[in-house]
Amino acid sequence: MSYETILVEQRGAVTLITLNRPKALNALNSQVLDELIDAFAAYEGDDGQRCAVLTGSGDKAFAAGADIKEMYDKAAADFYLEDFFSKWTSQIVKTTRKPWIAAVNGFALGGGCELAMMADFIIASDNAKFGQPEIKLGVAPGMGGSQRLTRAVGKSKSMDMCLTGRMMDAEEAERSGLVARVVPLTELIDEAVKAAAAIASMPPMAVQVNKEMVNAAFETMLDQGLLHERRLFQILTATEDKKEGMAAFIEKREGNWKGR
Ligand code: HXC
Repeated sequence: MSYETILVEQRGAVTLITLNRPKALNALNSQVLDELIDAFAAYEGDDGQRCAVLTGSGDKAFAAGADIKEMYDKAAADFYLEDFFSKWTSQIVKTTRKPWIAAVNGFALGGGCELAMMADFIIASDNAKFGQPEIKLGVAPGMGGSQRLTRAVGKSKSMDMCLTGRMMDAEEAERSGLVARVVPLTELIDEAVKAAAAIASMPPMAVQVNKEMVNAAFETMLDQGLLHERRLFQILTATEDKKEGMAAFIEKREGNWKGR
């Protein structure tokens, strides 16, 4: 597939994908989405590629959001029937088991912030600005912002961002745990590619497993986590050691463990 809205290049084992609609501040329209899905699938399927970096062209924006001009004329039924935005999560986040980093240069607003938060981690330039300004358009985040931002920075700051629509600068984003590192804009791509190359040099399966584990901590709902914990606890109560341990307590002696 040849691309019109993104650029893709390989630097050793690192795939660098650049959103490339600088005149629209890299706003995310359907074509960008389709091309990104294709580029991520190609990256995932290429055994020689071990880590990817996603950035925006120009020094002003990573992405200023979903394309407002594309959304303006759509009716609610269109959004619903197309299940608008669902492809982002199902085809980029869920099917990309290999790691990728968002290198955020400038504005990451609305869908741009949400896209950056889909990455395994974010490296931001010192001029980066994050925000979920959808409320100012009479809507709300639709690509995971209310969920991922809240998990990343906590309820209070997420409410502040979503309800006021204000922007957070790079320093605040790092302090809040939204981004992993902040670097000067001129060094952003080099630093992100360097980090990606370090990951690319690690044992590939261990990389995938580590990614999966951290995502499990991030993605499991508290209710599910508590249920999981409770069921495992209940399984343990069927062991001989449970009987022995409780008996040892009551009989005021040390336990004699069987390991089962
Ligand atoms: C379409 C966009 C755009 C966007 C910017 N542009 N953001 N086009 N969709 N999200 C276009 C502008 O129309 C303009 O095009 C060009 O990019 C340059 O933008 P300016 O506004 O002139 O730049 P500047 O004055 O520097 O302001 C930068 C900005 C502002 C603060 C980032 O552009 C802005 O507020 N953009 C919208 C941010 C936003 O609301 N994002 C959330 C979108 S909703 P022309 O042709 O005039 O030069 C979303 C999810 C919604 O992401 C979910 C709903 C279900």
